[in-house]
Amino acid sequence: MSYQGLDSKVIVVTGAAQGIGAAYVRRLVLEGCTVIAADRNLHGVEVLAAELGDSVVPAAVDVSSAVSCAELAAAAMERFGRVDGLINNAAIFSTIAMHPFWEIPEKEWDAIMAVNIKGPWLVTTALLEALKASGRASIVNIGSDAVALGRTEYLHYIASKGAVAAMTFSMSKELGGFGVRVNTLSPGPVYTEVSRETVTEAQREAMLARQAVPRTAGPDDMTSLAAFLLSDDSGYISGQTISVNGGLVHR
Ligand SMILES: NC(=O)c1ccc[n+]([C@@H]2O[C@H](COP(=O)([O-])OP(=O)(O)OC[C@H]3O[C@@H](n4cnc5c(N)ncnc54)[C@H](O)[C@@H]3O)[C@@H](O)[C@H]2O)c1
Repeated sequence: MSYQGLDSKVIVVTGAAQGIGAAYVRRLVLEGCTVIAADRNLHGVEVLAAELGDSVVPAAVDVSSAVSCAELAAAAMERFGRVDGLINNAAIFSTIAMHPFWEIPEKEWDAIMAVNIKGPWLVTTALLEALKASGRASIVNIGSDAVALGRTEYLHYIASKGAVAAMTFSMSKELGGFGVRVNTLSPGPVYTEVSRETVTEAQREAMLARQAVPRTAGPDDMTSLAAFLLSDDSGYISGQTISVNGGLVHR
């Protein structure tokens, strides 16, 4: 049996062109959803849609732009007339350069805040009327357990992801009366097809040694919780930050 009510839902996934975002799209298609795969990398989501077929609609969006988010919402409504779920997954992550916090260029700080925290607020706001009209909508904001680990040398990223969890809790209170639930899915380290500077080999080994589940995670390890939170089976769960980290840290 799959998750209740999920197979008829229209879901928007941001940051869908690669990595974990693309895995959410693949899983939701298997669950029978229609997915709007949105990214600033339009080519990436077009390639994904070509692979997955008609239930995936590629869309260009810059989540840091209110105009671009409004265009995304208008296109979704024009095409489907409804939106039942949203994964706010887009973030500046794999391209981050590591610096002690006192050396982070102000421009990098501002860019990360504009995408990672203002982005989920803008996308959610643009889609709000559609989500309210659904009557059984669910928003999944993507946080990070790097916050709980106190990881160093990307304080702008840590601050942005801490803010995602804080925003989720208050958002859930404002939206509960409209039948919209909001939760944070907080991944531990996840190794995707994209290389990045944020975890060295030594750090990877050290984190692995602290885990309860003795293996590293791939994108598919994140998708079950996302599907569950978007489904009607999680109808009494809102405002929560739920970790998927193999037992690395406890929140
Ligand atoms: N991979 C991990 O270890 C890990 C751990 C914890 C949390 N996360 C979070 O999970 C999410 C996905 O991680 P990932 O490893 O796949 O990241 P990634 O960097 O590989 O992918 C991010 C995607 O977001 C898109 N994007 C960036 N800026 C955008 C913008 N302004 N508008 C629209 N799209 C934009 C990129 O084009 C890319 O497709 C992110 O929110 C990340 O912070 C990842």
